[in-house]
Amino acid sequence: MVIRKKKQPEEAPVLAVDGPSGSGKGTVCRLLARELGWNLLDSGALYRLVGIAARNHRVGLDNHVALEVLAGHLDVQFLPGAGDDEGRVILEGEDVGPMLRSEEVGALASEVAAVPAVRSALLTRQRAFRIPPGLVADGRDMGTVVFPDATLKVFLTASVGERAERRYKQLKDKGEAVSLPRLVEDIEARDRRDTERAVAPLRPAPDAVLVDTTGMGITEVFLRLMAEVKERGIV
Ligand code: C5P
Repeated sequence: MVIRKKKQPEEAPVLAVDGPSGSGKGTVCRLLARELGWNLLDSGALYRLVGIAARNHRVGLDNHVALEVLAGHLDVQFLPGAGDDEGRVILEGEDVGPMLRSEEVGALASEVAAVPAVRSALLTRQRAFRIPPGLVADGRDMGTVVFPDATLKVFLTASVGERAERRYKQLKDKGEAVSLPRLVEDIEARDRRDTERAVAPLRPAPDAVLVDTTGMGITEVFLRLMAEVKERGIV
């Protein structure tokens, strides 16, 4: 009789998907997690939540000690939605879903994300998402810092112009008033902050598969990554 040892959480496969905002990571990670039946970590949402908590508690972005406390004690629940519904995110009892993806909160997130103590306070929480049968992890440092032993690392990019247009369409669809030139500026500023920060800067892991999604539709990106997963025998 063969006795199979139950897989430990840290042995669960991880698909680490990193890249700048607007590279298509969020949507493609959701599709991959659904297809594979794996858990999903939207690490950007954690940084966004720290930004919202800081604003709610009137904590200045230069108060690193208080930011670390907020990051280490985030009182958040992710309530999954059915089908295409993204679900709800409850922070300290308040549904913050509607503001979570706004440009303003994205900018706040990239400021708190540059604070080393905030990044280390979120490490354990992020690693706890790694549970069998597997994890799709979406972020900036999934393959370099959070899951350096990830089973497959992917780095998605796209031109700034195309990323700004994708974002413009998303925000327009949500009824937000936006200007395309302003979005290009915001994306360039966010890229600069993310790639130039001292700790966990945005960069591909040396062993990451690089995919430039400029001119690709989301289904094409999804199929490209699924092919990679299958070729490597991950599923
Ligand atoms: O991916 P998203 O746009 O939600 O991330 C918001 C911000 O959070 C990013 O611009 C980045 O500064 C920060 N972030 C990070 N590390 C991650 C995920 C997000 O620094 N793993």
